[in-house]
Amino acid sequence: MTTSQIKSETITVTPLVDKPLGCTVTLPSYCNNDPSLLNEDDHKKLYEAVLTYLVVVIPGQGNFSPKSQYNLTKSFDSSLKDEISYGHEDKILANDKSILKRDLITIKEQPEVHVLGNGVWNDPKYGKEDINLKHPTHFTFHKDHLPKEKCFDVPENEIPWTRFYRWHIDSALYKLYPPKITTLLGLKVPSKDKKQLVKYDDPENNELLVQQAATCFVSGANAFDLLSEEDKDLVLNSKIMYAPHPYIYISQCAATNDGLTICNEGKELELKELPPWEEKHIMKLPLVWTNPVTGKHHLQVHGCCVYKLYLPNGEVLGLEKSRELIYKWMKPAINPENVYAHEWSNGELCIFYNRGVWHSVSGQFDEGETRLCHQCNIASNEVPSVQK
Ligand SMILES: [Fe+2]
Repeated sequence: MTTSQIKSETITVTPLVDKPLGCTVTLPSYCNNDPSLLNEDDHKKLYEAVLTYLVVVIPGQGNFSPKSQYNLTKSFDSSLKDEISYGHEDKILANDKSILKRDLITIKEQPEVHVLGNGVWNDPKYGKEDINLKHPTHFTFHKDHLPKEKCFDVPENEIPWTRFYRWHIDSALYKLYPPKITTLLGLKVPSKDKKQLVKYDDPENNELLVQQAATCFVSGANAFDLLSEEDKDLVLNSKIMYAPHPYIYISQCAATNDGLTICNEGKELELKELPPWEEKHIMKLPLVWTNPVTGKHHLQVHGCCVYKLYLPNGEVLGLEKSRELIYKWMKPAINPENVYAHEWSNGELCIFYNRGVWHSVSGQFDEGETRLCHQCNIASNEVPSVQK
């Protein structure tokens, strides 16, 4: 038996070279190219790879079914019972005011799997009608915008400019706890030679060259490691409160140029303008979540949805002060050298540790350009915790 045959009996994990995080995984032959059919040992190895490298890429998954995607996503969270919820409540996602408002395009037979991308698609999986997907861009979310002529239909010898849309953790941040794992399947993606330049528009004039619509990741553990010893102590012992229905609360607001937080302009809705909410469902979470496999501390904050910050000395910071402090802690982590911009090939499956990374959409599309992805995450029943 050759070495390669021996290898094919189990999964292989290969860390990405010269990248701040990530690994690729190849599957053993017995699972017929379906990662939801791994045996217990290999599933454990895959789980450990996700929590160690934070983003796992499995190529050749163009035929990965929505049912398998759901089963795989669910399999990483032992807290899940029979009653399963997508990471957000449907009625809140579909609320006209929500910044996450989408037409809720889901797979009819597996509604926990959502369809994302750009352009018009027709597939019985999505229903009888055509679906029309719109890739989100900073033009609808940031306070200041790049010049449109630098982003759309640029001359052939120029590279279009873009921004990080919004750095985030997948989570409703109200009533439902953050999913542990998100799976994202790139079915039809732009070619690798189509580049766009992420402009930070920060004082350092940072830039990052990426494939059009690359999905960008940073490690929450690296974010924690970059803090001063004093700030580490502070974040370990502080708690963050998110607004009730946070994506509706900030629906009139606009974000900073880097998509990390919201500009303080006083445009938040009054709490009484929000859909009904209950005190007991408001999320007050540690800022640091400890990785159960590596033991590392991850700074895990959704900078756009913060509401109040509870410091260890008993002080409670309001909206503006909380945003400022959180921003100071988060910003170094998105410097270009710390970002893993996943450049997609058709049929790649990314499995990421949603409780250990932050991620952002990038890029925009000209008329007629298309992209198609299936995404799944499931709200956990387990509260994220810090082990000090
Ligand atoms: Fe996301």
